[in-house]
Amino acid sequence: MDVEDLKKSPGREQLAAWLSTEDPEQTAQLLAAAAAAKRETLGDAVHLRGLIELSNICVKNCLYCGIRCANTKVKRYDLTDAQVLQATAFARDARYGSLVIQSGERTGTAFVKRIEHLVRKIKQQTNNELGITLSCGEQSYETYRRWYGAGAHRYLLRIEATNPKLYAAIHPNDGRHRYEARLQALHNLQKARFQTGTGVMIGLPGQTAYDLADDLLFFKDFDVDMVGMGPYLEHEDTPIYELRQQLLPQEERLSLTLKMIALLRLMMTDINIAATTAMQAIDPFGRERAVLAGANIIMPNMTVSGVRHNYQIYDHKPGIDDDAELSKSHLEENLGKMGIRIAWDEWGDSKHFYKKREKFAPN
Ligand code: 5AD
Ligand code: SF4
Repeated sequence: MDVEDLKKSPGREQLAAWLSTEDPEQTAQLLAAAAAAKRETLGDAVHLRGLIELSNICVKNCLYCGIRCANTKVKRYDLTDAQVLQATAFARDARYGSLVIQSGERTGTAFVKRIEHLVRKIKQQTNNELGITLSCGEQSYETYRRWYGAGAHRYLLRIEATNPKLYAAIHPNDGRHRYEARLQALHNLQKARFQTGTGVMIGLPGQTAYDLADDLLFFKDFDVDMVGMGPYLEHEDTPIYELRQQLLPQEERLSLTLKMIALLRLMMTDINIAATTAMQAIDPFGRERAVLAGANIIMPNMTVSGVRHNYQIYDHKPGIDDDAELSKSHLEENLGKMGIRIAWDEWGDSKHFYKKREKFAPN
């Protein structure tokens, strides 16, 4: 296998072979080629997005997620506007450049209005200095339009698994968790002009190397602007915890994630790829390892420490006792140790998104 071949639209078989290889030399070559491709296209610095976990209230019941609505052990919370604005002021003072507002999925006009209002307020408070990414689940096209109109310009909605059969295996069959609806929401995000991000979990029970190869081909075909992927991690209060005997060891899930990042970087050199917290849950340097394999975005947590333990989508989520200041200093220390530079005060938009726009702009 030659890494050079990966630069010319690799096919399913080829991707699956790279994902399956256990040869450490080949893997090292792959990660190094991805790091070089990133450096050439995007430079070597990472961009940050301060993460605010707005609320763990969720109407969905995904079989893998610790904050699924049926988990009665979780204490539900909703940050106040004042708590959110405190976090956004922190992001501005910390020179993060951007922030992400993430929450469980909610329906109803009160929630839609609240997000719209919050986005406007943040834009005002920070003089439009901070880029805003939203990650608040599947919503209607009209809602996406409203949130975009308020000033958010990037949106993350993971497809979770692009194989409809696998998607069905990890979600309840109750009409509320439809693969087609998720796909439609992603199309609506693009239509609403968002820089659109998606992603999958890696190492799910029953998932094959071909499934993962298809995930990569899906990202390319959908022409995504951003991707966030992470290893699937067990949560003991979820139905698929029962299948834990089938899982790869966590370290293998992490190395598979690193390969997915590297392959995607070679396939789509100018998109934003996040180094996710789930990687850090397996290895304290997981996010830094992702950056060295082609990722260019990190999302330090800014949620007030008092509620962090309630946003446990998987067991042993790191940093739940830290506050925003500590999350920042830990990250800076780790990145420093690995020789990774931070691009302060920049939005760090997806270059891919703007190139696409140029291509399709009328003359
Ligand atoms: N392990 C890893 N990632 C998870 N997510 C939810 N539950 C888990 C889990 N057990 C991810 C999903 C979701 C994102 C917010 O968190 O991909 O989109
Ligand atoms: Fe809700 Fe997202 Fe968890 Fe599903 S994965 S239960 S939508 S927070």
